[in-house]
Amino acid sequence: RRPVGVAVLGHGTVGAEVARIIREDAADLEARIGAPLELRGVAVRDASRDRGLPAELVTTNAEALIRRDDVDIVVELIGGIELPRKLVRTALDSGKSVVTANKALLAAYTGELAEVAEARNVDLYFEASVAGAIPVIRPLTQSLAGDKVNRVVGIVNGTTNYILSAMDETGADYDETLAEASRLGYAEADPTADVEGFDAASKAAILASIAFHTRVTAADVYREGISSITAADLTSARALNCTIKLLALCERVPSADGKDRVSARVYPALVPREHPLASVNGAFNAVVVEAESSGRLMFYGQGAGGAPTASAVMGDLVMAARNRVQGGRGPRESKYAQLEIAPMSDI
Ligand code: HSE
Repeated sequence: RRPVGVAVLGHGTVGAEVARIIREDAADLEARIGAPLELRGVAVRDASRDRGLPAELVTTNAEALIRRDDVDIVVELIGGIELPRKLVRTALDSGKSVVTANKALLAAYTGELAEVAEARNVDLYFEASVAGAIPVIRPLTQSLAGDKVNRVVGIVNGTTNYILSAMDETGADYDETLAEASRLGYAEADPTADVEGFDAASKAAILASIAFHTRVTAADVYREGISSITAADLTSARALNCTIKLLALCERVPSADGKDRVSARVYPALVPREHPLASVNGAFNAVVVEAESSGRLMFYGQGAGGAPTASAVMGDLVMAARNRVQGGRGPRESKYAQLEIAPMSDI
């Protein structure tokens, strides 16, 4: 069997773990895919740092790596928006499948990238973009494809949940907990994206888009972060038998004219102690989906960090590689109906 060639863009917390698994678990991966999965190269910004990789695998020329004839799948893990947008477009345009964990990119350009993937008949997988190891993209795009989702509500940022849980449990200091979340590899390179809710807003945009078969961008999401939450707020919440969680809420909003609208919002909310989301602590994430026939489903697990996020990336990579070997295609974007965004005043 012809091997499936993989290019990994980025060698941070997640990229390093993905590169390690591809190299160390080669025999298991080959058995699952039906052909060897071979790492062709890892694109980095600074090639002089020792990364524990054979020198011939490390390159600073991502474009050239992507365009190599023996690269079939590109795994984008560099973060940011404009550079990965260009690289992912190059990959899709040259007929490569793409696996990405980049929520900011998808939330800004989901429609554009899905259209290029469609036009080139290649896979664009992004399970790792929301809630780390927890399968939420696949359930929404596949398992629930025949149901009607009305609401998705979740804790989708590990860093802020880590901070709020620690403040609630031990009265821990905000700055110290944030530094620990960064050290553990949960926080973004710039943790403002976490604490001000931008990261959760990108994930809400992705969830709303796939749950309601429409296109919602990060700019459509109402957003408040947690930087103004104080220990006193948590004490007050406790007195009400509640805790405070940064929630991402995506809802189908029926309107009098019969046209559904959609609302996506991120803000710190009072959550009653008996609600299942109240006991989601530390860097854990949880996503509750309410659909017409399925009723309420809850997905729970590790939502941030190198290894859990690499698990989701590897799942997508195996799927994309199997499709290459067996000639299949992953889920296509639905023929979407552009739903209006409901104004906050209507919620
Ligand atoms: N910074 C993100 C978080 C990483 O804390 O949840 C996972 O997307």
